Amino acid sequence: MVAQVIDGKAFAAKVRAQVADKVAKLKEEHGITPGLAVVLVGEDPASQVYVRSKGKQTVEVGMNSYEHKLDAETSEQDLLALIDKLNNDPAVHGILVQLPLPKHLNEDLVINAINPAKDVDGFHISNVGLLATGQKAMVPCTPLGCLMMLRDQHGSLSGMDAVVIGRSNIVGKPMAQLLLGDSCTVTIAHSRTRNLPDVVRRADIVVAAVGRPEMVPGDWIKEGATVIDVGINRIERDGKTRLVGDVDYASAAERAGAITPVPGGVGPMTIACLLANTLTACCRANGLPEPEGLTA
Ligand code: GUN
Repeated sequence: MVAQVIDGKAFAAKVRAQVADKVAKLKEEHGITPGLAVVLVGEDPASQVYVRSKGKQTVEVGMNSYEHKLDAETSEQDLLALIDKLNNDPAVHGILVQLPLPKHLNEDLVINAINPAKDVDGFHISNVGLLATGQKAMVPCTPLGCLMMLRDQHGSLSGMDAVVIGRSNIVGKPMAQLLLGDSCTVTIAHSRTRNLPDVVRRADIVVAAVGRPEMVPGDWIKEGATVIDVGINRIERDGKTRLVGDVDYASAAERAGAITPVPGGVGPMTIACLLANTLTACCRANGLPEPEGLTA
């Protein structure tokens, strides 16, 4: 079998267009413009690139973007004061604190200071609990993007065997909760899992999110399975720096039914889902129906 390539770039563009369309309607019908505040502490170059990209895409879909750049020595007290101000600002519907934070700042404390209704990353402990108990939550962006792609591919996921490789709080655990919410039979595999190849071979859906370059070879993939590769790993090959996923793409594509490439798969979906979450938060804050197809 030669896999269908799931084009995340095109999918993300479609999500952004849906968001833009609904933002325009919100303005026209209710005079409301969703607003996203992004807080960056320090000068980490990768974080600066992400934040710039988030700001640009926020404006492109017609939302207001508020960027707060604080210097690396900012005290916890000052950061918490800013979060408090954003929590109480009615023009701000979503708040994202870019991670990682400088070492002197307690990430858990900072994230849990965000109003859960504005926590568009879905990292607040309340949102983690709401998701785990099947209640209305803000859902982490990358797993939400993966879920959207899987639903688009299969329609219903009910009864499918899904294996999530990786147990991080940001991807693996929420991904497993979302798949369970869609009635998959879910296995979470990790570095201590016994007989990982056989566990993966059972799966109709494989989500790889471990951050180890090309660790899943094609012969672990069940014929016709859908493979979602969340990994973005920088490696040196043939004297060049390349981006590869957690799955060995070439061999997996020979067996999978559908597969996301790296780059151009899951990556572009994350910011698209951040915009979707900001729109959802804005609709909820104003007592309006949630945007269809853009939530879990
Ligand atoms: N740093 C890298 N990815 C993310 C993300 O999705 N959210 C936040 N807040 N920080 C990040």
